[in-house]
Amino acid sequence: MSIDPDKLKLFSFLLFSKLEGAVTSGMVHLGDRLGLYRALAAAPRALTTTQLAAATGLHERWVREWAYNQAAAKLISFSSLRSNLPTIDDDTFYLTPEQRAVLADESHPAFGMGMFHRLPQTMESLKRLPETFRTGVGYDYDSHGPEGAVGIERSFEPWNLANLLPVVLPAMPELPARLTTGISAADVGCGAGGAVLRLAREFPASRFVGYDISKHALARAHERLAETGLANARFADPRTEPLPTDHSLHFVSTFDCIHDMTHPAAVMQAIRAALHDDGVWLLVDIKAHDGFVMNAEKNPMASLMYGVSVMSCLSSAMSTPDGAGLGTLGLSAGTAETMARAAGFTRFERLAVEHSVNAFYAIRP
Ligand SMILES: C[S@@+](CC[C@H](N)C(=O)[O-])C[C@H]1O[C@@H](n2cnc3c(N)ncnc32)[C@H](O)[C@@H]1O
Repeated sequence: MSIDPDKLKLFSFLLFSKLEGAVTSGMVHLGDRLGLYRALAAAPRALTTTQLAAATGLHERWVREWAYNQAAAKLISFSSLRSNLPTIDDDTFYLTPEQRAVLADESHPAFGMGMFHRLPQTMESLKRLPETFRTGVGYDYDSHGPEGAVGIERSFEPWNLANLLPVVLPAMPELPARLTTGISAADVGCGAGGAVLRLAREFPASRFVGYDISKHALARAHERLAETGLANARFADPRTEPLPTDHSLHFVSTFDCIHDMTHPAAVMQAIRAALHDDGVWLLVDIKAHDGFVMNAEKNPMASLMYGVSVMSCLSSAMSTPDGAGLGTLGLSAGTAETMARAAGFTRFERLAVEHSVNAFYAIRP
């Protein structure tokens, strides 16, 4: 088989564009962690690297190389005087409103730094993965340490903060009034507790328990609970305090976690046993299709997601030898419905909530 030189060049370019993404992602992590994006966002005008270094208390030479990477990658913007005798102060750097929203505004629903926050921990898993591929047994979320939990918190909360109350809850028409009157509710796989705290603050007559098996996520949730002083929320590890089995809850939510679980079918059964016949389970999970071909065709981020799965979601879902191993793109609507029906639910409804990554389902007994 002969090699076509043009195809060879194109393929090499494709491969190294992946490395460009990986390396630039490392620089994005630094931009967030070192406050470089925030300093650019706060500045009233474009900054030279001397000014950016002064604003962040960093060394100019390193800031300059970082800025060149980021501007070359078109993640930050620049203007240049193009003088005959260029100096470093000819180049100034700034953020457009869109770059500012995604890189520097934690309160914007499109804020995107969460996955980059935990990039070192995610990449660290590469050291463990060769052995994982041999044994088949992965690692749960705590393998990413406390910063991993903060990264998850920063990934999901900006969108939830803007949309959970005004968009998601009203999609289940019976729910807001019940929460106002006062019901018992649970968020399973609650992570750092953002949804529980948001709901508990909004609905003081209802009681909320967040369940997670990650000690780092629970520690962060407890810390945040203490800061809020809310009396109607608490957090628990379901291995020591399982969900109630007396159908006493009127609302259960699971945000981006069923596909991470070693025993998702058992958790669904536990949710059914906890839920009142009149209650609703809000299942939020990655918008997946049935099978690899559909995912590859329809999801422009499929390769990112399969990779994140190996490093994070599948690893968690295979963290026991008998793990179900759904993984990031493993819970399509069809799979979710089949599993929910097997767990004793009879009504499965996809909600009209727009999200770039997630699908929303209201599942009822
Ligand atoms: C991707 S994170 C999502 C966290 C949170 N729901 C959010 O949206 O920020 C998945 C979470 O599921 C938790 N998890 C995995 N298996 C679990 C189980 N069997 N019971 C409760 N939580 C579990 C992990 O520890 C992790 O915190």
